Amino acid sequence: MYNFTFQNTTKIYFGENQLEHLGDELKQYGTRVLLTYGGGSIKKIGLYDKVMDELKSAGLTVFELSGIEPNPRHTTVNKGADICKKEKIDVLLAVGGGSTIDCTKFIAATAFYEGDSWDLVTQKAPITKALPVFSVLTLSATGSEMDSGGVISNMDTNEKYGFLHPLLQPKVSFLDPTNTYSVSAFQTACGGADIMSHVFDIFYFTKYPKMDMIDRVMEDVIKTVIKYAPVAVKEPTNYEARANLMWAASWALNGFLQTGGFQAASCHNMEHELSAYYDITHGLGLAILTPRWMEYILDETTAPQFKKFGINVFGVDASLSDMEGAKKAISSLSEFLFDTLGLQRTLTEIGIDERHFKAMAKNACGGDVMHGYKSLTPEDVENIYRMCL
Ligand code: NZQ
Ligand code: ZN
Repeated sequence: MYNFTFQNTTKIYFGENQLEHLGDELKQYGTRVLLTYGGGSIKKIGLYDKVMDELKSAGLTVFELSGIEPNPRHTTVNKGADICKKEKIDVLLAVGGGSTIDCTKFIAATAFYEGDSWDLVTQKAPITKALPVFSVLTLSATGSEMDSGGVISNMDTNEKYGFLHPLLQPKVSFLDPTNTYSVSAFQTACGGADIMSHVFDIFYFTKYPKMDMIDRVMEDVIKTVIKYAPVAVKEPTNYEARANLMWAASWALNGFLQTGGFQAASCHNMEHELSAYYDITHGLGLAILTPRWMEYILDETTAPQFKKFGINVFGVDASLSDMEGAKKAISSLSEFLFDTLGLQRTLTEIGIDERHFKAMAKNACGGDVMHGYKSLTPEDVENIYRMCL
């Protein structure tokens, strides 16, 4: 286990009717607010009106950037940064899912940069300063509401990159499970797959030693998704299910589970290539990839951890051999993702063929080798993509 520093500075207001604190919290950072949101779901659920009422009654001056895309584009980041510069914005308020929050984080940084946001995303230029970011979360998945990461796409070049930077950490996030009642069954399932993958990738499955205590919490986060994602899919207004998923999403990637370890996030690296080329939903790409990645790297060194996962999370029979237990764990995970949650099983089903696999595999490995639970070469990654067809 590595030494580590842990600090998470995001203040969370969790539950219903917490928006009454929004105005007072924002006022601590200034009076000119840029409200950012996506394609309109917040208007359909009445959240836009509620937020506007709070902002107006607090006497704040509000500017707006709407239309932030799922898999947000660097061009939209540029648009938002232009508004910040022109209107002398003091603070940003993102209302939406991970895409809206991620885009807003990079707007906050680009507001202090004289150039294209893509320079910051690709780390050609450093982030030196950022406006404060608030969020009102509407989809449980990415953890962006409580982490310092953001992921931005350049669809002209089929590139999607993200990284963590302390200046991008939200100051305050409002987590009201009722704001996720309207999330579709598909997006709820994708969100569940994303939460699980954050735990798997960073780094329940690892070749490095880690704390048993962290391992146990990781298993509980995964079990929370297994218990509650199917409930939320069937009963979208089940508060208990939505609340558990929301808090699990935030804790899967807020730094706590990442303490004491380090490794490349294999499935995330492979998935970001799929969404960079095909603009698919992140969680769906992860769901299709994860069981195939497990099958591909299954050998006598990985089987014991896969089996342990199967026993502790899916109740796989502990008396099976490591290999048999691991295979049962992988098939239980596939069954959960594709049968229980109803996600598509293959890349073929979502219209993806092999034509870009070589280029995607090379990018996923950063042109070299990806050092995850098992090191993967571009050829390995290409093979895994093929297993997903
Ligand atoms: O745009 P609107 O109209 O809001 O609709 C969105 C969008 O179409 C809709 N939606 C959101 N809340 C809703 C709702 N529909 C009905 N009711 C609601 N309450 O859902 C669709 C997807 O939204 P999006 O924000 O794209 O989803 P998600 O939260 O999964 O974010 C995905 C993005 O986050 C990145 C992904 O790569 C992807 O670009 N990630 C960010 C991470 C981070 N910041 O740490 C880590 C993750 O691993 C991930 O890479
Ligand atoms: Zn993710």
